[in-house]
Amino acid sequence: MNTLIVYASKYGCTKKCAELLSKELQGKSDLVNLKSSDNIHISEYDRIIIGGSIYAGRIQKEVKEFCCENLERLKEKQIGLFICCMQEGKEIETELVQNFDSELVKIAIAKDGFGGEFNLDKMNFLEKFIVKKISKVTTNKSNILTENIHHFAQAMNGI
Ligand SMILES: Cc1cc2nc3c(=O)[nH]c(=O)nc-3n(C[C@H](O)[C@H](O)[C@H](O)COP(=O)(O)O)c2cc1C
Repeated sequence: MNTLIVYASKYGCTKKCAELLSKELQGKSDLVNLKSSDNIHISEYDRIIIGGSIYAGRIQKEVKEFCCENLERLKEKQIGLFICCMQEGKEIETELVQNFDSELVKIAIAKDGFGGEFNLDKMNFLEKFIVKKISKVTTNKSNILTENIHHFAQAMNGI
C-alpha cells in the first residue's frame, strides 16, 4: 500500500505532523510539500492524505488548489484529511469541514485536527501582534495532539 502525504506548512507544524504520521503508516509513504513541489504523481499511490494549517479560518491556498485541480482523481483513492490549528474541541471539525471539499470530507477514511503551534520567534510583526491580541499568547506554544495522529494512522491502516 503506497501512501502520499501532501501538505502545506508556513512555520513547520504541519510538516512535523505529516512526518509523525508517515512513521505510523503501514507500507511506503512519501511526503510532498505543496509549497515547493508541483510535480505530483497521484496515480502512483493508493492512499492520499492531505494536510494544511489554518490562518484566519482558512486553509493554505496550495491545499485548496491541489484538491480542486485533482478532485476527480482523488475521489478514486483512499483519502485522509487533517488540519493543524490552535482551535480545540468541536471547532476543529468545523474548520476541517469548512476548508476541504465536501466530496472529499464525505469519502475520507480518517479526518482530524492534529493541534498546532505558535512559534512567535518566526512570525512577522503583524502576525505576532494578532496572536498576542487574540490568543493572549506571549511565548512559543506547542500543542501537537499525538493521540489524534495515532488514531488517524490506525484508521488509515484499517485497524
Ligand atoms: C496570524 C495567525 C492566524 C491564525 N489563525 C488561526 C485560526 O483562524 N484558527 C486556528 O485554529 N488557528 C489559527 N492559527 C494557528 C495556526 O493554525 C497554527 O499556528 C498552526 O500550527 C500553523 O501551522 P504551520 O506552521 O504548519 O503553518 C493562526 C496562526 C497565526 C500566526
